[in-house]
Amino acid sequence: AIDISKLRAETGYITLDEGYGNTGACESAITYIDGDKGILRYRGYAIEELAEKSRFVEVAYLLLHGELPKAEQLLQFSTRLNESSIIHEDMHHFFNGFPRGSHPMGILATMVASLSTFYPIPDELDSATEIQIVANLVSQVRTIAAFSYKKSIGEPLIYPSYKLKYTRNFLNMMFASPVRDYELDEDIVRAIDMFFILHADHEQNCSTSSVRTAGSSMANVYAVASAGICALWGPRHGGANQQVIQMLEQIHADGGDGTEFINQAKDKNSTSRLMGFGHRVYKNFDPRAQVLKQQCDKLLNKSGMTDPLFDIARRLEEIALKDDYFISRKLYPNVDFYSGLILRAAGIPTNMFTVLFAIGRMPGWLAHWREMLHAKQVTITRPRQIYVGETLRRYQDVDQRS
Ligand code: ACO
Repeated sequence: AIDISKLRAETGYITLDEGYGNTGACESAITYIDGDKGILRYRGYAIEELAEKSRFVEVAYLLLHGELPKAEQLLQFSTRLNESSIIHEDMHHFFNGFPRGSHPMGILATMVASLSTFYPIPDELDSATEIQIVANLVSQVRTIAAFSYKKSIGEPLIYPSYKLKYTRNFLNMMFASPVRDYELDEDIVRAIDMFFILHADHEQNCSTSSVRTAGSSMANVYAVASAGICALWGPRHGGANQQVIQMLEQIHADGGDGTEFINQAKDKNSTSRLMGFGHRVYKNFDPRAQVLKQQCDKLLNKSGMTDPLFDIARRLEEIALKDDYFISRKLYPNVDFYSGLILRAAGIPTNMFTVLFAIGRMPGWLAHWREMLHAKQVTITRPRQIYVGETLRRYQDVDQRS
């Protein structure tokens, strides 16, 4: 085999792989993907089976520890998450400092990084501290998310409850109010829990690679998690399900049923695309989309679930799945198409969609951080570049520059 490091040292040879689509940056035992066959497995377990039989907290444990928990371990983990769910009371002042209308992802990234100041980490990490940090992040990200939403609508904060399970607890903090009756719908709780499971890890995507990159410098883990949140924020990553709803809103506002939009998306002179269709890795089907579609159909068929956007979405799906343009290019609905609809049906405001993605992805990020921490050798991420700039130039004094 060619020793690339030696070759590079001897010849200055550097491979160019923009976006690292063809470069393995690490070895990992967490998530397996086969894009052609539509396979996604966490620690060897098929995503379909986990989504059907498991719950998010159990999947988080699986990702973090490598094995499904025994009953007693699951209870211990859930209890630890509940005990870690409150954020330091002084952090509440921070929420008041953000301007009205701040994007909740900006708030989330800032607040998660600031956990490092309230929960300092010793230089030498023992396993008990490591487990407590993980519990803090998995649990507190949900509290911060709900608090940032409450602040954005000017309602009093609802604290986490010791009695409620993870996802129910989150939805309660989001939607309960001292001035309003609020009853959680079981199907919505299940759909959001499934959303979290399906987003919990996806190997070396942009945000996870950012977590590994920041983590490889041995930076504080709260800052490392915040780096993941920042990378996820972008519309080309975590923001895609928000764009699905924005597309549906646009079609509705224009008074169309979707046919015209589909024609536009097929037109090579136009820049518009059918959002929620196609995937960089899954070229036949997105296994997460298949699972979520069933849950989505169940929710949207419930009585009282009327929304013109849902009708447009169904129509787009119907037309695209029969259209040669989409069939020949293997463009199928991806996870974002259905997750956008589910989150809307659950009453989650559009600007919180990526925040929910971050809650789901936190165990995956931390599993990668731990895997890296315990690897035999941690190499700091330091890609090279092909320099295409000027050769040596002489400095000119300012009055001599033409
Ligand atoms: N609508 C219309 N045409 C599309 C779409 C779409 N959504 N997606 C791809 N195409 C077309 C392209 O125009 C291209 O056509 P051509 O061969 O005639 O030039 C062909 O399909 C291949 O497109 P690529 O961009 O090369 O496909 P790629 O695999 O690189 O892109 C991507 C995947 C970025 C997801 C793309 O399908 C897309 O933009 N989809 C819409 C946005 C979206 O839903 N993103 C979420 C992805 S899922 C996730 O991130 C969790």
